[in-house]
Amino acid sequence: MRDVAIVAAGMTRFGELWNASLRDLFVEAAQQALVTAGADHLDAMYVGNMSAGQFVGQEHLGPLMADHLGMAGVPSVRVESACASGGVALRTAFLEVACGGSDLVLAAGVEKMTDSPDVTEVLATASDQETEVYNGATFPGLYALIARAHMAAHGTTEEDLAWVSVKSHRHGALNEHAQFPRELTVDQVLSSAPVSEPLRLLNCSPVSDGAAAVLLCPLDQAKQYTDRPVVIRGAAMATGSMALTDRRDVAFLDAVEAAGARAYEMAGIGPEQVDVAEVHDCFSIAEICCIEALGFTPLGEGRHCARTGETALGGRLPINTSGGLKSKGHPVGATGVAQAVELFEQLTGGAGARQVAGAEFGLAQNMGGTGASSVVHILQAT
Ligand code: COA
Repeated sequence: MRDVAIVAAGMTRFGELWNASLRDLFVEAAQQALVTAGADHLDAMYVGNMSAGQFVGQEHLGPLMADHLGMAGVPSVRVESACASGGVALRTAFLEVACGGSDLVLAAGVEKMTDSPDVTEVLATASDQETEVYNGATFPGLYALIARAHMAAHGTTEEDLAWVSVKSHRHGALNEHAQFPRELTVDQVLSSAPVSEPLRLLNCSPVSDGAAAVLLCPLDQAKQYTDRPVVIRGAAMATGSMALTDRRDVAFLDAVEAAGARAYEMAGIGPEQVDVAEVHDCFSIAEICCIEALGFTPLGEGRHCARTGETALGGRLPINTSGGLKSKGHPVGATGVAQAVELFEQLTGGAGARQVAGAEFGLAQNMGGTGASSVVHILQAT
C-alpha cells in the first residue's frame, strides 16, 4: 500500500441555499479543491450522496458531476452509506490511491435537502423499514430512544445534552461556512420546541444543502500540489445492527467502536494521541455516544465533557471545532467529506479562530442511520 495524502480541500457554505442546485454545489466545492492544488486533470472521482434520487429526483451522479466539472471521461461513481456516504467516498478514494489504481482522485460529497417536501420520510429510509419505519419511527424518534437508554444507563440529563449544543455552536460561530453561526445558551436549548423528547429543536442537526471535496494523491507526489500535505494514516469502516431492537446495548454504538479500533490500529496510535476530532453529532446524544465509543472518555463519562470544557476549543480534546453537524449543518452526503475539510484546515494551520495550536493528529468519524455503518479516518500533519 502507498502512503496517501490530502493535498487540497474545498467546500460550500452549508445552509438553505435556494440559488444553487445539486450540481452547482458539487462543482463549487470540487473546483475550489482543484484550483487550490493547481490540478487540471483527475484520474477518478467518488461522489458521496445519500439520496439525491428522493430529495431532488436525480440519480446517476457519477457521470453528471464529472460532466459538469469539465471532467467527462474520468471514471466517476456515486457512493452511498446514508449519512456516512461522504466518509465512505473518502475511504474508497483512499483505497484506490493506496493500492496504486489511480494517482489523483477527488473525494467529494453533496446533498440538496431543502427542496424536498418529505425530508423526514427520505431520511427514515436509512433506518429499518420493517421494524422501525413501519411502526412510525423517524430519526429524531430513534435518537430519542438512544438518549433515553443513555439516561437510564448513565444518568445523562437534558442539561448534559444541551451543553453539547452550546459547545458546538460556540465553535460554529467562528465558522464562515456554518448554517447557524451563532452562540446558544443552555436555557435556549432547554426551552426550544420538543421534537421527540428528550430531544428538542436545538439538540438536532438541521436540514441542509451543501457540498465538500478533498483531493488525494500518493504522498510522494504531494509536493506537486501543496507544501503542506496531510497524510491519511487510518481509514476504516464497520457495520452493526440496523434496527435498535437488535442491538446488545441501545446506548452504545458498536460500529463506531469497531471502525475506530481498526483505524487506530492502522495508524499505530491510540485515542490519547488525537489532538482534534470531528464526530457525527446529528443529535447531541450522538456526540456523547461517539466520544465514548472512540475511547476519548470512559463509558458513561461522555455526558460531562462539553459542560467541563474538555471538548471545547482550548480544552483537552476539542471536538467538532467546525461547529459539527449541529451548528455547521448536515447535508447528509457531504458531511463525512466536510469533516475531512475541517481536519485538513486544522492540520495545515489554516483554521483561523478555530485553530487548535500544534495539532498533529486529527480523527474524523462519520456514521450512517442510527449507527449501522460508521467510518473513521485518522489524519496526520506533515
Ligand atoms: N438548529 C438551530 N436552529 C434551527 C434548527 C437547528 N437544528 N433547525 C431549525 N432551526 C431554526 C430555523 O432557522 C427556524 O428559524 P426561523 O423561524 O428564525 O427561520 C426555526 O428554527 C424553525 O425551523 P424549521 O425549519 O421550521 O424547523 P422544522 O420544525 O421544520 O425542523 C427539525 C426542525 C429539528 C425537525 C429538523 O431540522 C430535523 O428533522 N432535523 C434532523 C435532521 C436529521 O434527522 N438528519 C439526519 C440525522 S442521522
